[in-house]
Amino acid sequence: MSDLVVKTVEELKDAPEEYRAAVAKLVISHAVNELYGAQVFDEPAIAYAPTPYAKWLTCRVAMEEYGHHVRFKQLGVQIGIPEERMVPGAGKKPLSIFEFPLKTWEEFVAIKLLADLAEILQVEDLLHCTFHPLRNLARATMPEERFHAQFGEDFAAELIKTPEGKATLQAAVNDYWPYLPKFFGGSKSKNNEIFRKWKIKQRTNDEMREDYVRRATEVATKYGLTLPEVRQAA
Ligand SMILES: [Fe+2]
Ligand SMILES: [Fe+2]
Repeated sequence: MSDLVVKTVEELKDAPEEYRAAVAKLVISHAVNELYGAQVFDEPAIAYAPTPYAKWLTCRVAMEEYGHHVRFKQLGVQIGIPEERMVPGAGKKPLSIFEFPLKTWEEFVAIKLLADLAEILQVEDLLHCTFHPLRNLARATMPEERFHAQFGEDFAAELIKTPEGKATLQAAVNDYWPYLPKFFGGSKSKNNEIFRKWKIKQRTNDEMREDYVRRATEVATKYGLTLPEVRQAA
């Protein structure tokens, strides 16, 4: 374990190569995934939102998710990552959840309810990152991710008021849930080992996944929903 703390983008230049490469990997993955999510889910959801009020809030969510991409990308540019490596399709295979285009409002509510909780866990883990520019970015992003998860809860509460709404939401949960625990990466991840060695990230993929499944189960139960059984990623 290392005690290295990197307070500024300038200081990063003097950090060991392994540290710099690990920070770059993390920034790229956040920049790419935030943009994918905004393009595949949040922006299309505006068209499915059932009321002007829901459209307004969905616009805000989409704006913020694009904003997350922009912030991570700006940090990436500052630390010397070429811009073309921070957009979808830049040689990095997308998380499989992004391969299914959004079809309904209920799917979007399920995604905000459960997938944004996964985003919260990822951002929480960065709140103690030894690379302070990334830690500061996580601090700025956190209130917005909480708003997205709350958005999911509020519209879930609305949908479950009718039996049809509840059934459609449960069906969307059944479709999307199997992809979500995988979001935390493999159990024996070399990348994760390096992130933890330098305290860029704090927890193992499995610790995060277990915590996520526990918290997601709590949220689902609150709205009378169930999460289908999923075989854990190896
Ligand atoms: Fe985000
Ligand atoms: Fe979000």
